[in-house]
Amino acid sequence: MRLFLDTGSVEEARRAAGWGVVEGATTNPSLVAGSGRSREDLAREICGVIDGPVSVEVVSTDREGMVREARDLHGLHPNVVVKLPLTEAGIAACKWCAGEGIRTNVTLCFSAAQALLAARAGADFVSPFIGRIDDTGHDGLDLIEDMRTIYDNYGFKTAVLAASVRNQGHVREAALAGADAATMPIGVLAGLFAHPLTEAGLARFLADHRRANP
Ligand code: G3P
Repeated sequence: MRLFLDTGSVEEARRAAGWGVVEGATTNPSLVAGSGRSREDLAREICGVIDGPVSVEVVSTDREGMVREARDLHGLHPNVVVKLPLTEAGIAACKWCAGEGIRTNVTLCFSAAQALLAARAGADFVSPFIGRIDDTGHDGLDLIEDMRTIYDNYGFKTAVLAASVRNQGHVREAALAGADAATMPIGVLAGLFAHPLTEAGLARFLADHRRANP
């Protein structure tokens, strides 16, 4: 499972890129709004830092507007993946993008039926929002498992990109269920490194080393 950074911050992207294990990034209109930057400037800069797919979302609600935005966003940088909402217009725009060779990430996926639609439209990535499903009292993991089964049943190349990942448990569950990638905030990514026994073990190794090498 590839690890992506969900962010609206170039600084966070630089930090994550420095680890050498983050292979993509995702943004959304809320993250862009929080950055105080233009979507285009932010996308270009993150693309310059993260060596992999960087999802940048359209804000139009009709197919023609989405297609126009998709064309523009695609022209920004080769790393850009156009993010489209899972609506009738979004699916139609996704189908158009697939025909043009423009990579897409269909977002706001909350059901297996929606995931099937996006794959049929030729989406490169589909983003099930597992944290938001958990928020409703259901289990986001079920959707990832359903998507894995459906995509494997029919040989879809569409990647399952677990999104709305809030904690390490989500990362574990997504990986066990066979998600192709998971996108998460910098805090969750940084938390993947941490284990108290690693810290305690390292402290003891270093203390022993210092004692033997005064
Ligand atoms: O990748 C989608 C993500 O940004 C949404 O996360 O925590 O707002 O549900 P959250």
